Amino acid sequence: MTETCPHDGLFAAATPELVRCPYPVYEHLRGEHPVQWIPALTAYAVTRHADILDVLLRPEDFSSRKQSGPGAATSLAVAAAEDPQYSDRVRAAAVRRIGIAEKGAALVNCDPPRHGEQRKMMNKVFTPRRVALLEPPIRELAEGLVDAFVARGEADVVAELATPLPMTVIARALGIEGTDIPTLKRWSDAFVRANGRPNLSVEEISALILSLDECYDFFEARMSERLADPREDLVTDVAQADLCHEERLQMLTLFLIGGNETTNSLIASCIWMLCRRPELQDELRADPELIPPFVEETLRVEPPVQGLFRQAMRDTTVGGVPIRAGDFLWLVYGSANRDEAQFPTPDEIRLDRGAEGRRHLSFAQGPHFCLGAPLARAEARIALETLLARTRNLALAPDEDAGQWAPNLVQHNLTRLNVVFDPVSV
Ligand code: HEM
Repeated sequence: MTETCPHDGLFAAATPELVRCPYPVYEHLRGEHPVQWIPALTAYAVTRHADILDVLLRPEDFSSRKQSGPGAATSLAVAAAEDPQYSDRVRAAAVRRIGIAEKGAALVNCDPPRHGEQRKMMNKVFTPRRVALLEPPIRELAEGLVDAFVARGEADVVAELATPLPMTVIARALGIEGTDIPTLKRWSDAFVRANGRPNLSVEEISALILSLDECYDFFEARMSERLADPREDLVTDVAQADLCHEERLQMLTLFLIGGNETTNSLIASCIWMLCRRPELQDELRADPELIPPFVEETLRVEPPVQGLFRQAMRDTTVGGVPIRAGDFLWLVYGSANRDEAQFPTPDEIRLDRGAEGRRHLSFAQGPHFCLGAPLARAEARIALETLLARTRNLALAPDEDAGQWAPNLVQHNLTRLNVVFDPVSV
């Protein structure tokens, strides 16, 4: 292990300031300690684009089994299962979670060769062609959501647009659209709450583990229904795929989480960015073709997933630093995306970066490249097209400090964004 980074205290405290704007810390690490042991994370932070790409393209050396890191939900379940502080119900749910996690790696936390087999089974679910078919209903949904608040001239766009849009879209794709959206959100949040942040209370951990349990019960019941009565939806695809029961449960929860937490963040960050750069609003309204490069730049500079973990399976090196078998690496996508060696003037939003701009690692790269990227891009584009067409002069509400970032070093998302605007009738 190398010397302790002077910024370790920041990681340890996960202060709101760091969560809101971690980029100066990344810049420091990239410049001086590009592969740096962070005791508070019990992992090496890997911060240069080239080093992260190197790790992503070596899945045989670096396992994704614990891609949410040493503090994630399964580790909490392992601790809770044996701890008498927790109720019998929580401990039983923890044991169930451990069993599912052990037997049921699904895509994102699955290694070769099984990962390749699963990817072949699921590759078809969000192809550009399938996403094109989903566009009209996404637009209708976005219009309905924006129309519901636009006359007020103000809104919390996280609660009223960025959260319900992707959650409803993924619920429809799964075939569970009748389910209460706040319940789905609570389950989805439970899976990611512990990521990179192991300091939760007994009550918080209990609630989190019980939510996972409810979510598994729910998907088990839906799969039984679909086996008896198949439909054109993801629950049917997964129930019929050549997967074991645990893999099916993990796959469905992965779609639920992947389909909403991140896209929610992207849409909110795009709106936040437009409020801070009013000149961009007019540019995008005048030429909506610029919306996709704008979404790409927001993905690059405010990535919904700041970083994910890998675990070394053998002794090796990264960026010249020796890594031992068993060591965790935190691949800081948020840092790679501002690496000046890859992106000139990296802190600037530039709509003319072209192919270079798409080299960001917000969807990762290599075998685990995000399966839902075409869907996420389409949802963000449609949300912005709809909002920009129905408003002028979007701005942060006078009392909004935009400091409401979720306290999580992996997920980077606003939990609230109050904006004001002039309504436009269309
Ligand atoms: C802005 C939105 C999104 C972002 C930033 C994002 C980010 C990511 C990242 C970084 C990975 C790679 C994980 C790793 O490195 O270990 C990933 C994988 C994945 N994402 Fe997304 N995602 C988004 C939207 C979606 C959507 C809408 C879905 C649809 C359900 C989805 C489903 C998946 C799946 C299934 C994987 C696993 C792929 C594999 O490991 O083979 N994502 N995503």
